[in-house]
Amino acid sequence: MILVTGGAGFIGANFVLDWLASGEEPVLTLDKLTYAGNLENLASLQGDSRHTFEQGDIGDAELLTRLLAQHQPRAVVNFAAESHVDRSILGPDDFIQTNIVGTFQLLEAVRKHWGGLSGQAQAEFRFLHVSTDEVYGSLCATEPAFTETHRYEPNSPYSASKAASDHLVRAYHHTYGLPVLTTNCSNNYGPYHFPEKLIPLLIVNALAGKDLPVYGDGMQVRDWLYVKDHCSAIRRVLEAGRLGEVYNVGGWNEKPNIEIVHTVCALLDELRPRTDGVGYQSQITFVKDRPGHDRRYAIDARKLEKELGWKPAETFDSGIRKTVQWYLDHPEWVAHVQSGAYRDWVQTQYEASPIV
Ligand code: NAD
Ligand code: TYD
Repeated sequence: MILVTGGAGFIGANFVLDWLASGEEPVLTLDKLTYAGNLENLASLQGDSRHTFEQGDIGDAELLTRLLAQHQPRAVVNFAAESHVDRSILGPDDFIQTNIVGTFQLLEAVRKHWGGLSGQAQAEFRFLHVSTDEVYGSLCATEPAFTETHRYEPNSPYSASKAASDHLVRAYHHTYGLPVLTTNCSNNYGPYHFPEKLIPLLIVNALAGKDLPVYGDGMQVRDWLYVKDHCSAIRRVLEAGRLGEVYNVGGWNEKPNIEIVHTVCALLDELRPRTDGVGYQSQITFVKDRPGHDRRYAIDARKLEKELGWKPAETFDSGIRKTVQWYLDHPEWVAHVQSGAYRDWVQTQYEASPIV
């Protein structure tokens, strides 16, 4: 079996669902269930004996030791993290605690467990750390996309904490020989995406008749990958990645934010037009920019493509259409995630955000 941390969040849940849809190997999900963790994401697994859920913190050494001894996973896939840049700007503490200290505790527990294994079990054990392209910093318009050897230049508390965790993972391989793999992926989108991030926020705000907030001039560029393509990349790296290596994961889909906003509006105009006949673009509102906002991310995924033969299955057009349709088809999920805690966040982040 495998242990998946952060498996009740956006990407982790997609990973667990896809894993169990494509094979029989059981999964133990460990998740703290922060505001971003949602057991509804895994509701379709209720009663499935291949899936076990444990609520807990990757920083809890005792719990980790017990879980590793009891379940004897052959691999650990670490998604658990605080993941939202804007929250890291307003309050970095949880990012330091989970992304740095938590990853350290997880590595320590895994190192001790792995050290106690022998023969084939030890040789085949894997620790896969899921990271982000944001550790590489920001590109100007003409610079080539990030390769795995690009220097680390994190600019936000979020990306700095992820960078620190990547360094710890690297060090545990170099120093102790822990069989690690690291993936650095671009911006994901798709089902179960918490609506504090750009794409799901646009969809839920548009449908609710609210403003579509665009930071600054809306010309910041992100490289978008459909979440299930990220999951297939992780499966492939886990299966065949070379130990100690880093693999960039990306969809070759660079887009300025404003183009994303227009695309989502156009899809909603087609699939769920406003009753007054006015287009959703009328709800676009330019707001104060994010402090230290990275201008451009772009991923060069050729290493993963050439070495491991991975390719994304979705284009941006097909992936964004599926995503918008998923949100239209799941109004109950959307209603449930917009709880009191979510409303508090929206108020803190946007109601004090002057329109420019
Ligand atoms: P998310 O915020 O949706 O989910 C994070 C999950 O981790 C939640 O279920 C949360 O409850 C859990 N968690 C948080 N702290 C924990 C702790 N201390 N112990 C155990 N569980 C804890 O995040 P996501 O978008 O699914 O991202 C997953 C991973 O992928 C993160 O490591 C993130 O840095 C990375 N990543 C995300 C993106 C993206 O576009 N979302 C892109 C590249 C990499
Ligand atoms: P986000 O989804 O938060 O991901 P990240 O910051 O990790 O790239 O934001 C994606 C882009 O969209 C980023 O450039 C910030 C911008 N953005 C807005 O313009 N408005 C918003 O309300 C949000 C949440 C993001």
